[in-house]
Amino acid sequence: TRMDKGGHKHFMAKEIAEQPAVIAQALAHYLGEGGDTITLPGAGVDFSAVNRLTMVACGTAYYACLTAKYWFEQVARLPVEVDIASEFRYREPPISEGTLALFVSQSGETADTLAALRYCKGKADSIVSVVNVAESSIARESDLALPILAGVEVGVASTKAFTCQLSVLLMLALRAAHDRGLLEDDALADQISALRSLPALLNAALDQEDTIRRAAQNLSEARDVLFLGRGQMYPMALEGALKLKEISYIHAEAYASGELKHGPIALIDQNMPVVVLAPRDALFDKTVSNMQEVLARKGKVVLISDQAGLDEASDGLWQSVAMPACPDLLAPIIYAVPAQLLAYHAAVAKGTDADQPRNLAKSVTVE
Ligand code: G6P
Repeated sequence: TRMDKGGHKHFMAKEIAEQPAVIAQALAHYLGEGGDTITLPGAGVDFSAVNRLTMVACGTAYYACLTAKYWFEQVARLPVEVDIASEFRYREPPISEGTLALFVSQSGETADTLAALRYCKGKADSIVSVVNVAESSIARESDLALPILAGVEVGVASTKAFTCQLSVLLMLALRAAHDRGLLEDDALADQISALRSLPALLNAALDQEDTIRRAAQNLSEARDVLFLGRGQMYPMALEGALKLKEISYIHAEAYASGELKHGPIALIDQNMPVVVLAPRDALFDKTVSNMQEVLARKGKVVLISDQAGLDEASDGLWQSVAMPACPDLLAPIIYAVPAQLLAYHAAVAKGTDADQPRNLAKSVTVE
C-alpha cells in the first residue's frame, strides 16, 4: 500500500530517500555518540594479525567489496582479493595463512555466498560477514557478523543496503589501518568526524533529484548506455550500469575509464549516452581526458562531479549533475545516490516496475 511506501511511488524510492537516516544509525552503532574510536561487536578483529583479505559476494554486494578493496589497500595497506561467490566456490582457491575472509550479503542467505563461506571454514584465520539480516545463515556461520542496520529492504534492486555496506566496510578499513599502526589516534579521530558528515552529504546528493530525473528521462530513450569511472568510481560505474539494466531493461555496461580505448570507444557515436562519474580528485584530469575522447566522437556525456569539477569540464556536456564536494574516501557512498536515482527515474519514465523487475529475485537462495 501507499502507506508502507511512506508516500513514495515505490519502495525503491523510499529506500533511496532513507539513506541519510539509516547510515546515521549505522554510524552511531559503530562510533557511539561523540566517540572517536570504532567499536566492533564481540571480540572484534585484530587486524595486526591479518596479512590478506579475501572478499566474496554476489550482485550489488560484490560491488561494495570492489569499492572496499580501494579503501583496505589505500588506508590499511592490506592486499585484497575480491571475487564473485559463484566463481570463488568452484575455483577452490588456496587460502594462505593470515587470511581474513569477508562475506558481504544483504539477505545473508545467498546460496553461492554461503557456499563460499563454508569453503573457507578451517582454511581462513577468521570468517567475518557484513550482513543486513542478523539472524541469517551467513551471519550465524561467521566468527563475527557485522550488522549494517539498513532496516528491511523491499525493493529487489539493493540501494540503502549497498550504502550501509559501504559505510560499515569503510569503518572496518579505518579500524584496520589503526590496528596496523598506519593511522594514529588523531588521524582516526579526523576520519571519524568526516564520517559523521555522511548523512548531510547524502542529503545534499538527494537534493539533486530533479536534475537527475531530467537526465534519466533522456537516458530512458537510449538503447545502450555506457558508464565510466576510475579508481573508487569504477565500482560505482559498475553499480550504475547494473541498476539501470536491472530495473529499466536498458542495456548498460561499465568500464574503467582507462579501458575506454581498449574497446568500448568503438561503440561511441551520437546515439551513445555515456555517464561519467568523476569527483574533482587526483584522478579527475585522467577521467576528463577520457571523457573528451567520447565528446570528440559525438557521444552524449552526462558528467556527475562536484561544482569544482563541473566548472573545469563543462564544455560540450549533454547533462551535468552536481554532487557536494566531499572527502575522497566518502565519494563512493555519495555517488551511489545519483547512480541509483538515474536508474530509478529511467525505470519510472519507461513505466517498468522498479520494485519487482522481471526475472529477478530479492534473494537467490538456490544456485
Ligand atoms: C540479488 C538481488 C541483488 C543483490 C544480490 C546479492 O541479485 O537482486 O540486489 O545484490 O542478490 O544478494 P545478497 O542478499 O547476498 O546481498
